[in-house]
Amino acid sequence: MQERLEEIRTQALESAESASSEEDLENIRVRVLGRKGELTMVLKAIGKLSAEERPKIGQLANKLKKEIETSINARKEALKDVHVRTFIPGLDPTLPGRQRRLGRLHPITQVMDEICSVFERMGFTVAQGPEVELDFYNFEALNIPPDHPARDMQDTFYIDDKVLLRTHTSPIQIRAMERHRPPMRVIAPGKVYRCDSDITHTPMFHQVEGLMVDRDVSFAGLKGVLTAFVQQIFDPDTLVRFRPSFFPFTEPSAEIDIQCVICRGKGCRICSQTGWLEVLGAGMVHPAVFRHVGYDTEEFSGFAFGLGVERIAMLRFGIDDIRLFYDNDLCFLHQF
Ligand code: PHE
Repeated sequence: MQERLEEIRTQALESAESASSEEDLENIRVRVLGRKGELTMVLKAIGKLSAEERPKIGQLANKLKKEIETSINARKEALKDVHVRTFIPGLDPTLPGRQRRLGRLHPITQVMDEICSVFERMGFTVAQGPEVELDFYNFEALNIPPDHPARDMQDTFYIDDKVLLRTHTSPIQIRAMERHRPPMRVIAPGKVYRCDSDITHTPMFHQVEGLMVDRDVSFAGLKGVLTAFVQQIFDPDTLVRFRPSFFPFTEPSAEIDIQCVICRGKGCRICSQTGWLEVLGAGMVHPAVFRHVGYDTEEFSGFAFGLGVERIAMLRFGIDDIRLFYDNDLCFLHQF
């Protein structure tokens, strides 16, 4: 009986492997596994065997049945392949498939996300505001009255007398303070617009604004937060310098420089031979700003800061023309 099984096996597998059509395969299946097939007959005869032999032969026969079925099916699949290969002219299924390019986040989005996550780890939450903004929020509430010379610093796109494209993310400070009472720690990332275009300016760019208000918020706190930020975004040993400056909505105000990441302070083209790069504007919130939102200037103090995302990205990636970010050149964008 065992020999008979072996014989069926050899024959069936050989003929399945050399079958050249589905029809051939079907014939083999009927011959071996059909109702009167060779193997079926063996299975039917098992009952007549001795009690000792029965389980052993039964197991072998069942295993063989599966093996033959598998081999027939495998051959069927293989034939399908040959079918395609031989019957569709000009199609070569052995050629590698066309690669699909995966999309990815724009480098500015990547850097902005990273900046936000650094501040989020320090307890700041993200706030947002409109890009089409009222003059009131963009200027007046920030202590920049209509004839203030600081308005000339920002080449504003006006929509009409009272409406404009925000020139910075600072109006979000005001909107956040109108909605919430201190203590608060917010950052506000977003697009801003200024009528300006050259290798370091685009008419639309991105800023991240920061604001912290509470009892006893100090300039020392501001220094701590911004130093921690810079050292997480650049090297942990990056030197930071706070330089006195002016913004109408902060007093005192500072601009924050980092040691040039390109020449490490020796002086190069990027840092105009100074060894330093300006990366942030900041200061203690001006009491006039607090008065606009009804905060008690005796009880609360706060600091604010703002940074340009493109500038940070250019320094991080060593890019010397800001316009590259907005040319939509995939060769450029795919590097990030
Ligand atoms: N809004 C300022 C700018 O766009 C940056 C700034 C923000 C300065 C907050 C101080 C405090 O230049």
